[in-house]
Amino acid sequence: MSGLASTLVSLGLPSTYEAAVLDYLTPTDIPTKSLRPFLYGFVGICFFAWLLYRTWIYPFLLSPLRVLPEPKGGWPIIGHMHLRVARPVGEAPLKWIKGHPDADLIRLRGFLDSEALCMLGPQAIAEVLVTKNYDFIKPPKAAGFLARVLGNGLVVVEGDVHKFQRKHIQPSFNFRHIKELYPIFWRKSIDVVERIKADLFDGASKTPPGVSELSFWAPKVTLDLIGIAGIGRDFHTVIHNEDELAQTYEKIMEPKFEIFLLFSLTVLGARWAMKILPTNVDRWLTLQTDKLRHLCRQFVVDKKRLMKISGEESADLLSKLIQSNNFSDDELVDQVLTFLAAGHETTSSTFEWATYLLARHPEIQSRLRKEIHEHLPPSISPDSKDIDLGEILESMPILNGVCSETFRLYPTVAQTLRVAARDTSIMGYPVPKDTLIAVPIYAVNRSPKLWGPDSEAFDPSRWIDRDTGKSNNSGGAVGNYSFMTFLHGPRRCIGQEFARAELRALVAAFVGAFEMDLEDENYRPLRMGVVTTKPSKGMPLKLKVVGDWSKAH
Ligand code: HEM
Repeated sequence: MSGLASTLVSLGLPSTYEAAVLDYLTPTDIPTKSLRPFLYGFVGICFFAWLLYRTWIYPFLLSPLRVLPEPKGGWPIIGHMHLRVARPVGEAPLKWIKGHPDADLIRLRGFLDSEALCMLGPQAIAEVLVTKNYDFIKPPKAAGFLARVLGNGLVVVEGDVHKFQRKHIQPSFNFRHIKELYPIFWRKSIDVVERIKADLFDGASKTPPGVSELSFWAPKVTLDLIGIAGIGRDFHTVIHNEDELAQTYEKIMEPKFEIFLLFSLTVLGARWAMKILPTNVDRWLTLQTDKLRHLCRQFVVDKKRLMKISGEESADLLSKLIQSNNFSDDELVDQVLTFLAAGHETTSSTFEWATYLLARHPEIQSRLRKEIHEHLPPSISPDSKDIDLGEILESMPILNGVCSETFRLYPTVAQTLRVAARDTSIMGYPVPKDTLIAVPIYAVNRSPKLWGPDSEAFDPSRWIDRDTGKSNNSGGAVGNYSFMTFLHGPRRCIGQEFARAELRALVAAFVGAFEMDLEDENYRPLRMGVVTTKPSKGMPLKLKVVGDWSKAH
């Protein structure tokens, strides 16, 4: 029964019952006609009793979760709803983490004081994401909306289907395969650098001479990269945008208010309302996603046929999935859509944030450039058998520190949600089925308790071991659950190593070739977006081509 219906029943039934009892007990004194005011009176009394129960008696006197700390600023009736939806995503939980340094778990209240939880510390995180992972699922309505675009790929499926898919997709993302992708990452990174150079002083460019808008180039190069390394198709969007599959995909992903509205109404269970609004975006989305699926299906079928005929082994992820023989054509299409969506915007905005941080820290930028020039000789050829590009990029401490620190400070998925799939518990507190749980990735990554008093400072050296001068994996943080960018447990990001390798190549090629500054040195971008976040007003950079190194390419 919907929340509204159960409310009406719980109000109406007792009231009617009470009115009937009254009528029965005092039949002669109260004529039927005048029963109505009593009925209304009882409805009112029941309503207030119910309201009192929902907003005060249950949450503050009875709920087993009442012992948990709560952030300040809750309002009557709507609880902490206004804080939960506050933008930029993650800022409110960061305040909660700072205000409750010893709490692993806090309680939030929602509409009519329905209860939700927010995990702030390692023990709660470990239980929800790792030890009891399958007790918690993604919110079904949000996952249902995503499935319209992504199909039933790894991001949205649950339970045994997830276990099956994860088991059979994981090998395609293993270290050896990711290493094979480095030459692709490097070639495309150099391509975009060359395009930016050509555009920098081109009179036809939309930016002033010497300035480049990275938020124009970054999504293009990362779409090309996930295209070629993920599914073996070069979209060439850095050069032009004529690939029908890429065009359709980009159309769907374009930020549109109507799509946001459709998503919000779907999550609230009110998709029907789209029918009475003056927009046909729901139908438009269905048409576009059908077209995208059709194009992907055609591509998968052609690719399979070609692989059979040529017998060639290709490095892309889709080829590995085809070779594994575990998925039908339709299931392969679901994964293609999933790779495109999960591996595109996430890496492009991380790349933008990396350049922002470097532009604001010129001394780190110079040290990184020196390291790049020392390790990557101008003559480097990604295809040379004598050079292990992956090993070189992975061994550069400043480069890896800069990338890890960007992932930490600007996780593009700033927050994710879970719902209890059954009655369960976290840290011994009973958690009823359907309780919503916020996983505040951005906030945990900046927690002073876990990262120290300078937790919000950009300091790549925290990822370098002082004694050996080599990269470390912990960033000097406390425990295993301080770095949340890719989550943990069976649902952690499967593309983590792919994303790390891609960012290394992009940052090395870019910083090796350009000295960068913010076009407006006072620009402090906000994080904009809901599912993934990016800089609010793009990333306009003043670029100066670096002499010697750039000539080599
Ligand atoms: C900066 C880059 C990236 C970030 C920050 C990121 C972050 C995340 C996060 C936080 C999740 C978990 C979401 C949740 O369960 O609520 C996730 C899942 C996932 N990511 Fe990534 N991701 C990145 C890049 C990639 C790339 C490049 C790929 C693919 C090539 C990818 C593929 C996936 C897939 C398939 C899942 C679902 C895994 C599962 O549920 O088993 N991601 N990612």
